[in-house]
Amino acid sequence: MRIHYSRLQKSLHWLHAVLLVCLILLGVSMTRMGEGALTNQFYEAHKSLGIVAFVVVLVRLGVRIVSGAPPYERALDPRMLVMAKAAHWLIYGLCLLIPLAGYAATSLCCKPVMFFGLGPLPLELDGTQALMKRLFALHETAAIGLALLVCGHIGMALYHRFIMRDGVFERMT
Ligand code: HEM
Ligand code: HEM
Repeated sequence: MRIHYSRLQKSLHWLHAVLLVCLILLGVSMTRMGEGALTNQFYEAHKSLGIVAFVVVLVRLGVRIVSGAPPYERALDPRMLVMAKAAHWLIYGLCLLIPLAGYAATSLCCKPVMFFGLGPLPLELDGTQALMKRLFALHETAAIGLALLVCGHIGMALYHRFIMRDGVFERMT
């Protein structure tokens, strides 16, 4: 019998994955497109979706802490298990840090963040231009780290699916 994450955990995993891919694509393109109406729309979509992703990861973490993770079908190599767990928690950590840094930096340079054009989400922060630049640099570096980590994560998921065939991939599908 296959052992799975709960349906809620799987739905949150895939929703979060789609959001992150959109955010990275929007972030990388909007910062390279030059000025224009479309660029502004990309910026606004990026900021609003980034806040949605932050809420989704909070819910995901809450569900994860309350429900835990299902046991593995077959015992994994202990080193692989430690690395997988470290990578998963690092992904969660970066997914908290990146939007917080982006939101704080945006609040220092160009507030308020307009949530999908519905209304402002103000954050009163005092800070210098230097702090704003450091927060954006943190935002960018952490996002690159996350993108690399997720590539490794997808590679490992496919390795379990096609090489190891040990049921790990199916835990999330
Ligand atoms: C998990 C959520 C997020 C991810 C993965 C993410 C990712 C990225 C990436 C990849 C870039 C492009 C960096 C570059 O190449 O220069 C970027 C830029 C940016 N992000 Fe985010 N972001 C997230 C959330 C947010 C949030 C919540 C805000 C603000 C409310 C935000 C505001 C910005 C801004 C203003 C830039 C442009 C910075 C610049 O012009 O140098 N991001 N983001
Ligand atoms: C942006 C994309 C993604 C992110 C941020 C992400 C994040 C995560 C995290 C944090 C976990 C740990 C769940 C927990 O125990 O709390 C996980 C598990 C898992 N993910 Fe992803 N994931 C992404 C994309 C993918 C993709 C595309 C695949 C498949 C090709 C995949 C397959 C899996 C599998 C099979 C597990 C279960 C691993 C296990 O229980 O040992 N993920 N993912």
